[in-house]
Amino acid sequence: MSTENSKNGFSSSFGAIMAAAGSAVGLGNIWRFPYICGKYGGGAFLLVYICFVFFIGMVLMMSEFVIGRRTQSTPARAYPLLRPDKPRWRMVGLLGLATCFLILGVYLVISGWTLNYFWESLTGTLGSIDNDGFGDHFKQFASSAGRPAVSLLLFLLFTLLVIIGGVEKGIERISKLLMPILVVLLIVMCVRSLTLDGASAGVAYLFQPDFSKLTGEGVLAALGQALFSLSVGMGVMIVYGSYLPLNDNILKTSMWITVCDFFIAILAGVAIFPAVFATGQEPTGGPGLVYQVLPVVFNSFGSLGRLFSVVFFLLLSLAALTSAISLLEALTAWLNEKGMKRAVAAVLVSLCVSVVAVAASFSFGVWGSVKLGSLTIFDLLDKLTGTYLPPICAFLTIVFFGWVMKKEDIMDELSNHGTVKIGYFKVFYFFLVRFVAPLSLLVVLVTGFLN
Ligand code: PFF
Repeated sequence: MSTENSKNGFSSSFGAIMAAAGSAVGLGNIWRFPYICGKYGGGAFLLVYICFVFFIGMVLMMSEFVIGRRTQSTPARAYPLLRPDKPRWRMVGLLGLATCFLILGVYLVISGWTLNYFWESLTGTLGSIDNDGFGDHFKQFASSAGRPAVSLLLFLLFTLLVIIGGVEKGIERISKLLMPILVVLLIVMCVRSLTLDGASAGVAYLFQPDFSKLTGEGVLAALGQALFSLSVGMGVMIVYGSYLPLNDNILKTSMWITVCDFFIAILAGVAIFPAVFATGQEPTGGPGLVYQVLPVVFNSFGSLGRLFSVVFFLLLSLAALTSAISLLEALTAWLNEKGMKRAVAAVLVSLCVSVVAVAASFSFGVWGSVKLGSLTIFDLLDKLTGTYLPPICAFLTIVFFGWVMKKEDIMDELSNHGTVKIGYFKVFYFFLVRFVAPLSLLVVLVTGFLN
């Protein structure tokens, strides 16, 4: 089942871990996790989240790695290769890739905003705004036509350049460089945040368990967040799985990535909320938190404020970059597999996705009135990629893996053809893969659609 792609892969397990962790760690960890963790009961949410991350998210990651490495293919070809007698499963691969495309469209809008805020921190524009002005500043920026579009296109250009560089020389190299920088920057932010007077209220907000806030909605949010944060369900990890070294221990690699993603989310919470509380701000989520509350927090740091603002927005941009890279790579690899040159494929996908991203970006301003029902283009994409498509894709993937793919193939791949012990297989396969994961995903889906 080997293709041209098998020559093209990560050079080592460490490189693979950095690249996949780069995909996992992104806006989801830094601007989404801390907020929903606090909102749905801190420590109580954390408990549920940990279970979902390790028992469902990591299981899906291992499944995708197995599918990818076994077939050395992208999702579009992997499914029919594994079950040539059931060619319809190819649709699942294609649905995953379509989801990647839409996620990338939304992701680019926010990444573009982040890049712009990094630039504004660096040049001092942000520092010259007074505390009451950040709300208006953000609205004005997001609703203007030119700046957000230029920022997102620039961000896409950086992403494209890495992809054109190749899997090992582009993706692996940049991830090995950026991931450690990201962790260092995040730790610097944590130290600053924790040493402020009144920081403990933020720590309590994040970690103190409040089971009364852990609603059904909170449990669903935890599962959605676990999937999004680990980049699983859409097939990105199938593509990265096809780049894994053949002797790589899939269980160990998946564990490292999962642990890394989890701790970075926690660190992000510790970097943000103690500072938010210490400076008397309200904890909010999404754009409100990152582009309106945090600049006020940075302003109150005095002369070091600008430095921390630059560091934070740089951190967020880098985290977003390694995630965007994985999304663009999945789509590029698919066209490449169909015979198109890698660079041409990457440029073509970038052109198509830039149209979607710019349209979504315009929905904050000039195209604000273009709506489907009550949803703007951005809202619609956000809803599709944030609520519906990832659990659908994840559910279909795990059903294929547990009930359609051959068990012997899975055992062979997980054990590296019998050379690695897989004593965990029974629990993994007969309990988690076949029942726990699909049933949990089904519950999320049904409840999501009923709401
Ligand atoms: N995991 C990324 C984050 O937490 O920001 C987002 C993401 C990347 C989701 C790649 C899905 C994906 F396929």
